[in-house]
Amino acid sequence: MVMLLTGGAGYIGSHTALVLLEAGYEVVVYDNLSNASRESLRRVERLTGRTLTFIEADIRDTARLQKALTDHAVDAVIHFAGLKAVGESTEKPLAYYENNVGGTLSLCEAMTAAGVHTLVFSSSATVYAASDDMPLAETAPTGRPTNPYGSSKLMIEWILRDLQAAQPDWSIAILRYFNPAGAHDSGEIGEDPNGIPNNLLPYVSQVAIGRLPQLSVYGSDYPTPDGTGVRDYIHVMDLAEGHLKAADAIWGQPGVYTWNLGAGTGHSVLDAVRAFERVSGREVPYRIVDRRPGDLAQCWANPQKAETDLNWRCRRSLDDIMADAWRWQSQNPEGYGRD
Ligand code: NAD
Ligand code: UD1
Repeated sequence: MVMLLTGGAGYIGSHTALVLLEAGYEVVVYDNLSNASRESLRRVERLTGRTLTFIEADIRDTARLQKALTDHAVDAVIHFAGLKAVGESTEKPLAYYENNVGGTLSLCEAMTAAGVHTLVFSSSATVYAASDDMPLAETAPTGRPTNPYGSSKLMIEWILRDLQAAQPDWSIAILRYFNPAGAHDSGEIGEDPNGIPNNLLPYVSQVAIGRLPQLSVYGSDYPTPDGTGVRDYIHVMDLAEGHLKAADAIWGQPGVYTWNLGAGTGHSVLDAVRAFERVSGREVPYRIVDRRPGDLAQCWANPQKAETDLNWRCRRSLDDIMADAWRWQSQNPEGYGRD
């Protein structure tokens, strides 16, 4: 079976490419390298002892995408490509809508033209309405996201549902990720953010390695056990395995399926910092600052539906996430380098 991964050179895509190659799939990565390095894929090939096809191109180039789908006889697409920095999305909303929403429209057109009707999409828990009622099941109401990045994810979910209603032979999986973190346990591939990280885990790792002086903890007055924000951290390898299970499950089963991919447990910012210090043996200096606008007090998944339908659940712990994040960071203090 041939899988095309848009954005497959990025953080989650590269780990998923590895899992797919190990499971015997043929992999075509289609990425414009706007937020990734070719090196991630070289390492995936080295780790798996297999080769993949890499196409450096943009998903908004519909003709190029259609050619890639037909040339390589692609069976299914996993769609990771997009822009993901929440703060930047409020400054450049048009770029986010153009890349994420426009890019997905282009992908769906290319897939239609090439006769490929199986799609797995990277959505986010950010589509859920703010709620005090945790954990979140897939039936929880979606909200009005507080930023263009979140809105783009929700819009794409709507577009995909409308597409499947109009063309019922499509099989579409919408995967709502909670907080992806960690790295492959070799320490060879991991998260390599451009510039100063926005997300907690890469920030903590860069403090521990000495690239950044200290962590700012955004708020200690939330209605949570220790006052800091609570999230559901999911190991990127568990997440990658979830994509394989979802793609298998929807193959030849037309419909739209929505699954939460989360561990089902909430951890506070301070829990995460302590776990990181414990497994790395490094101190992570921090100071408490004001809340970050748009942040929720708490957010964690009910992952039961994925367990029932896909026989999938997270197998790796918070300590595994921290140990693997630290191995990646300490072996690659400057990330991949952008070559
Ligand atoms: P990433 O930035 O590492 O990967 C995205 C990849 O897409 C990059 O390799 C980038 O070069 C590529 N890309 C971007 N625009 C493109 C375009 N127009 N054409 C071709 N390639 C393009 O991000 P990630 O963390 O691996 O996230 C993957 C997906 O999962 C994204 O859609 C993201 O919104 C979603 N997601 C991520 C998280 C998270 O915390 N990392 C959480 C929820 C959802
Ligand atoms: C953020 C995005 C979300 C996106 C997700 C994955 C916001 C408001 N939300 O989620 O839309 O889907 O990333 O990319 O940006 N924290 C600190 N200090 C830091 C960084 C984070 O205290 O330097 C705290 C946050 O307040 C939060 C927790 O750590 O409580 C996790 O933050 P983060 O990793 O940014 O993820 P989310 O905010 O859950």
